[in-house]
Amino acid sequence: MSRIAHPAGPRHGEVLPADHPPAPPAELNALHPGIWPRGARRDGGVLTIGGADVRELAERFGTPLYVCDEQDVRSRCRDYTDAFGPDDRVCYAAKAFCCRAMLRWVSSEGLGVDVCTGGELEVALSAGVPPRQITMHGNNKAQGELARAVGAGIGHVVADSFEEIARLAFLAEDAAVTPNVLVRVTTGVEATTHEFMATAHDDQKFGFSLASGAADEAVRRVIACPDLNFAGLHSHIGSQIFDTAGFEVAAHRVVGLAVRIRDEHGIDIAELDLGGGFGIAYTRDDDPPAAKDVAQSLRGIVDAQCAAAGLPRPRLTVEPGRAIAGPSTVTLYRVGTVKDVDGLRTYVSVDGGMSDNIRTALYDADYECALASRASSAPPMLSRVVGVHCESGDIVVRHAWLPADLAPGDLLAVPATGAYCRSLASNYNHVPRPAVVAVGDGAPREIVRRETLDDLLALDVG
Ligand SMILES: Cc1ncc(COP(=O)(O)O)c(C=O)c1O
Repeated sequence: MSRIAHPAGPRHGEVLPADHPPAPPAELNALHPGIWPRGARRDGGVLTIGGADVRELAERFGTPLYVCDEQDVRSRCRDYTDAFGPDDRVCYAAKAFCCRAMLRWVSSEGLGVDVCTGGELEVALSAGVPPRQITMHGNNKAQGELARAVGAGIGHVVADSFEEIARLAFLAEDAAVTPNVLVRVTTGVEATTHEFMATAHDDQKFGFSLASGAADEAVRRVIACPDLNFAGLHSHIGSQIFDTAGFEVAAHRVVGLAVRIRDEHGIDIAELDLGGGFGIAYTRDDDPPAAKDVAQSLRGIVDAQCAAAGLPRPRLTVEPGRAIAGPSTVTLYRVGTVKDVDGLRTYVSVDGGMSDNIRTALYDADYECALASRASSAPPMLSRVVGVHCESGDIVVRHAWLPADLAPGDLLAVPATGAYCRSLASNYNHVPRPAVVAVGDGAPREIVRRETLDDLLALDVG
């Protein structure tokens, strides 16, 4: 049995898996810019993040471990607030990664916070996010969640169904408050992304369809209700989008509705929320647009569409989640076994897997990874990084080029795991969820503690 080592990439005639892996990188130890947190470096071959040595982090906090570069998060918040400027609004979509420290950071950088459940709302309130800066989404908010949101005086509720408009009207009258309501519009745009990350095509659960006239009717009902303030329109076309063409079509259609609202009700919409979805780099082949380009493009689209329709320009809101949280974090894993499957590749088993990163299994997501605990001059070895779970689909990195001298005990780092990894983590196979450690601002500290088996057993009350 020998490991497949490719000094210069796959050779002619060699048996390789059907799903073609990328060519090995020229320099295995190099940290490709754009994928790693801004505070990531190699120091004598060892990965450091925000000045913290990953070997010490693993020793102190255990593995798997999410290591989050606070300064990376803060700098990306500033990229967005600078790009959109004071007249428009940036809200962090908490679903990407939600804990009190994270929501405090984004809030202190001037971002609002989007929540989509009562749980996320409670985290935001307990983190001290000003209620007026909170927007609540969700296609099936429970009466109790709506009551808490309205009672706390949150800034906006995004209405997603006729039932919800009726519930909101009842709650508002009861509480003698007038919540600001945005109507979520399904624009029929087919976003260029994975099927499960597209949210504006007609056949899905979110929002009111433009095509069927439901969106016009929803606006009518909100406006007719004296206890609700119709604040404007909301559209979110999907996630991990690189191309602004979908936003252009969505904005065009939403502005069309705004014109009908003006004609029917004599109201100019005050706010237009175009949602989030701005893509990030997971591998060196990804080339997402910078925040300033996203802002220039979206602002340009809205300005042009409003000018063409003769509408005053509403305040624009965007809701990036992944683009704020995603690039900040790497997951550290300890290698447990290195198994050659002759003629195919080497399977590297680490101590986490689909319970801390379901994105590979759920979305076919691609990641890169690197040996983090030391440098190596060994040739690249085609590997698949897999987890501890009883599933052959338990893959962390489908195609990884790792040094051929990789051995049990080494630390691997997978970058760009700050969004939709901890927040989608599970206890599958009774694996406790990893801790999240913040680095880059003083001493490394846990911001979400590691679960223990006792935590899991405590829930088992049978
Ligand atoms: C309404 C809404 N806003 C914002 C987001 C954030 O998307 P992303 O993290 O891709 O920016 C989502 C994600 O699903 C969403 O549903």
